[in-house]
Amino acid sequence: MIGVFDSGLGGLSIWQQVRAALPCESIVYYGDGANCPYGGRTEDEVTQLTMAGVEFLIEKKGAKLVVIACNTATATAIDAVRARWPGVPIVGMLPAIKPAALSTRTGVVAILGTERSLCSEKLRQYTEEFAAGVEVISAVGTGFVELVERDMEGTPEALGAVRAVVEPLVARGADMLVLGCTHYPFLADEIRRVIAGREVEIIDPAPAIARRVAQLLAEHKLAADDSHEPEYEFYTLAGGEYLQKMKRKTEVMR
Ligand code: DGL
Repeated sequence: MIGVFDSGLGGLSIWQQVRAALPCESIVYYGDGANCPYGGRTEDEVTQLTMAGVEFLIEKKGAKLVVIACNTATATAIDAVRARWPGVPIVGMLPAIKPAALSTRTGVVAILGTERSLCSEKLRQYTEEFAAGVEVISAVGTGFVELVERDMEGTPEALGAVRAVVEPLVARGADMLVLGCTHYPFLADEIRRVIAGREVEIIDPAPAIARRVAQLLAEHKLAADDSHEPEYEFYTLAGGEYLQKMKRKTEVMR
């Protein structure tokens, strides 16, 4: 089984891409809805919660590879996770600055993310390495995670929240909008409405993450047989209603 971890429902945007790219692989998803959002939490809290989630996936569910489908958890805890389970391939995610920096025509790249990932050292280093000569501006998607967790996509509140954050970035000349939080693709319709008529590209890293998973499975000889019938499991400590919401979100993304 492939394990996928997120603070809540956002990682289902990655789950969907992994499932589509690797249709024979079973996937176990753990969403820490009881403690979401992680974005405003301390480094210690995010590290502890991430370790607990990954421990569940590896130790209890026997995950052969784990995707930390959360930029916030990756920026904060991926080194600790890799150190604790050196034998298990771990795929993490940071905002996709590199492709954005390569493609920008205006020279301005905007990153949307949570407070914790935007102020992380990992992101600072990554930006320095891959976005030299490009102006990188960023904004916290205030309220975005909460809207997605409450199933409020498609509402006027969601559109208002997205407009308030995205409009100023576009006004500053950004032509690349990097979705640096896995919850944000659920608000892609709202983002598209706000940027409509302007030459702005949305960069969602989910397909690249799925490709990386496939590559690592092949490298480690862990890929399931072509005849394998996949199973999909979902876990949370946030209760039965949350579990149902999780399953509904997988339908939304199809
Ligand atoms: N989905 C997560 C991310 O990619 C974090 C959301 C949160 O819990 O604040 O950063």
